[in-house]
Amino acid sequence: MCGIVGYVGPRPSQDILLAGLARLEYRGYDSAGIAVIDGDGELGMRKKAGKLAVLRDSLGDAPLPDGTTGIGHTRWATHGGPTDGNAHPHLADDDKLAVIHNGIIENFAALRDELLADGVVFRSETDTEVAAALLGREYAGNGGDLELAFRSVVNRLEGAFTLLAMHQDHPGLVVGARRNSPLVIGLGEGENFLGSDVAAFVEHTRQALAIGQDQIVSITPDAVTVIDFAGTPVTPEPFDVSWDAAAAEKGGWSSFMAKEVAEQPEAVANTIRGRIQDGQVVIPELDGLDELFTGINRVIITACGTASYAALVGKYAIEQWARVAVDVELAHEFRYRDPVIGADTLVVSISQSGETMDTLMAVKYARERGARTLSVCNTQGATIPRESDAVVYTHAGPEVAVASTKAFSAQITALLLLGLHMGRVRGTVADASTDVAELLALPEKVAAVLESEQEHVTQLAGWMADTRSVLFLGRHVGYPIALEGALKLKEISYIHAEGFAAGELKHGPIALIEPGQPVFVLVPSPRHSALVHSKVVSNIQEIRARGARVIVVAEEGDAAVLPFADEVIHIPLAGPMFEPLLAVVPLQIFAMALATAKGLDVDQPRNLAKSVTVE
Ligand code: F6R
Repeated sequence: MCGIVGYVGPRPSQDILLAGLARLEYRGYDSAGIAVIDGDGELGMRKKAGKLAVLRDSLGDAPLPDGTTGIGHTRWATHGGPTDGNAHPHLADDDKLAVIHNGIIENFAALRDELLADGVVFRSETDTEVAAALLGREYAGNGGDLELAFRSVVNRLEGAFTLLAMHQDHPGLVVGARRNSPLVIGLGEGENFLGSDVAAFVEHTRQALAIGQDQIVSITPDAVTVIDFAGTPVTPEPFDVSWDAAAAEKGGWSSFMAKEVAEQPEAVANTIRGRIQDGQVVIPELDGLDELFTGINRVIITACGTASYAALVGKYAIEQWARVAVDVELAHEFRYRDPVIGADTLVVSISQSGETMDTLMAVKYARERGARTLSVCNTQGATIPRESDAVVYTHAGPEVAVASTKAFSAQITALLLLGLHMGRVRGTVADASTDVAELLALPEKVAAVLESEQEHVTQLAGWMADTRSVLFLGRHVGYPIALEGALKLKEISYIHAEGFAAGELKHGPIALIEPGQPVFVLVPSPRHSALVHSKVVSNIQEIRARGARVIVVAEEGDAAVLPFADEVIHIPLAGPMFEPLLAVVPLQIFAMALATAKGLDVDQPRNLAKSVTVE
């Protein structure tokens, strides 16, 4: 949450900062601000409540003087509402010093009291201004050594933070620090960048350095230095950014979400690529790590939100193929109880951003308890993979829309690959040829659903624009897809939606059914299990008898559902574990089309941010 960008170099920084913030806006969009140091060594700052466009307009009307050193911030409010005053940057030292921050400073109240007693006057309700004031006091007290003052301040802060600072007496220098919040360095020619993630600078450079926990970085146009909080020099880890700038652009699409839904065949194909050898799944990143899978008797998959629904699909697949017990735990529940885990447990975390605080803390907790850890992540250089024993990257490319779509498909794909890889290593999958063929056929089948159902589902959503509640039912791997369908609708259409395991219906939720209630039902193929299929058809009859309006997602040729369905959405034939990747697509299109019909911003839904870096 909150996007951060920093620049030092020869070019005017304002446009670079605004472009970086535009790419980071998915991290928070309730206010934005920039500060630059101009040619006369004067610090200028502008910040505005509202989306980045409001700041842009303000700068368009009255630009800041040109400056080649700058920092920028886009906010998701924690302490203090989304007002101009609470927006970042926050200033100190007679407005010569600017600070931006992502995270929560947990001891801010005590620090604020200390500073108030010193006569500091605060202009905002934020924890960030406390850090700025502390830095101002430290800087004045040590005779103007910004780096030293910065190190002293970050050592006093508790909680999670990425902090960037610059001072007008030090043009050409931006200092940054991170603890449990993201920060990466972009290396240019005679210029350097800082960003919450590589999207902030991918337009300018694809050479990056990852900064570890509790480290401090100073960038000047020609140099980057990294130290830890004790002041010891550190060599940061270099990595090449595989995304290009175009991948994070909207192109001709009406929204990032529309583009990302359409990119799913590619996201699935890219995640599979390079991981099939001689008809078997072999994930090269896991080479030499067989012990992760053989020395265990239990797997826990931990994640939040959409990623946790991918985890549920992963549970079915890993149990089926690798014959090991799998539990799925919401990351924020996992570490606040006393789970039974140890060296015989593999904890798999799933995160698109690789920065979700709840998931990160679950991974750290699992490691402390002696468990082995593996992450499934979409973002290079992110914290969660760095904190894990192993990582399997999804290759969905940058996901900008807040509601996850292509990353979800890539996560399921990675978990299917992981299940087959584990099955091979554990000796429980002798012949993977059928499943490998299913995997390889997926991109084309996802493309076929996009092609055949886009118009139909969009039309359906148009008819239902006034709907106040939608239910989703599924069984087996259809159950997590029902949960995901409901979440997509809630988050971008603001419509009440619930997903249920179809078998659970008569244990309570069926009381919700009244005439006209729309219910999506995900029907598994009768070829996989005639029994499960017949149970779902019975569930459809039960709700139909009570007046529900039934929209069925079923495989082509499933005639048994036709008499009971008001609408049928067809998906191609696929193996049992592979159906979720096809069934989710119409539900994503439905949520997107309904939100659009209601005139809502599908990319930036209210109250949300993409990367949830606070607990
Ligand atoms: C919903 C959505 C969220 C994320 C969740 C975890 O569309 O995107 O539910 O799935 O916040 O985020 P990551 O995967 O970045 O850890």
